[in-house]
Amino acid sequence: MDLADIRDDLKEELLTEAQLHERLEEIAREIERDYEGRDVLLVGVLRGAVMVMADLARSLKKHVEMDWMAVSSYGSGTVSSGVVRILKDLDTDLTNRHVLIVEDIIDSGLTLSWLRQNLVSRGAASVEICTMLRKPDALKVEVDVKYCGFDIPNEFVIGYGLDYAEKYRNLRGVGILAPHVYQ
Ligand code: XMP
Ligand code: MG
Repeated sequence: MDLADIRDDLKEELLTEAQLHERLEEIAREIERDYEGRDVLLVGVLRGAVMVMADLARSLKKHVEMDWMAVSSYGSGTVSSGVVRILKDLDTDLTNRHVLIVEDIIDSGLTLSWLRQNLVSRGAASVEICTMLRKPDALKVEVDVKYCGFDIPNEFVIGYGLDYAEKYRNLRGVGILAPHVYQ
């Protein structure tokens, strides 16, 4: 789907497919430079990071391994407690590995700060974070993000892997969801 196909569901079109791809190419060049001579394990967080992972991995002009985790935040209602439950764990032993977590979006930062600690504790040589989107105004904990695609406003966004009620993940761009859709 393209942004134009769901225009009535959007408050605003935020990022086009071309903008996302262009930025990912820049990030890929940075990663190649930073990890020269080192093997990287990309760890994608299901399900939102599927699109970023697919595009980033193919942009990289080096061999990479890919593995996946699925996590869910514990906590009552809409308040993220920062305590995370692993729904699907990695198949890869992280001992002495250089891990790059690939995420779709950082909101409060609670999930990712927990996840980084968890992966560090498994004996990884390094754990860095790459996220396509970040909401600076929503951050509750400091997260050291090495690669960030775009800083965006503190609004609910959909597309490029991000869903509302499991819809819109297959949208090529990113948009701000119109309130009438979820009210
Ligand atoms: P944290 O722990 O950083 O959680 O608060 C990040 C996770 O929250 C989800 N999330 C969103 N999903 N549109 C979405 O579709 C959004 O605007 C949004 N903001 C946060 C997402 O699952 C992310 O991994
Ligand atoms: Mg996610």
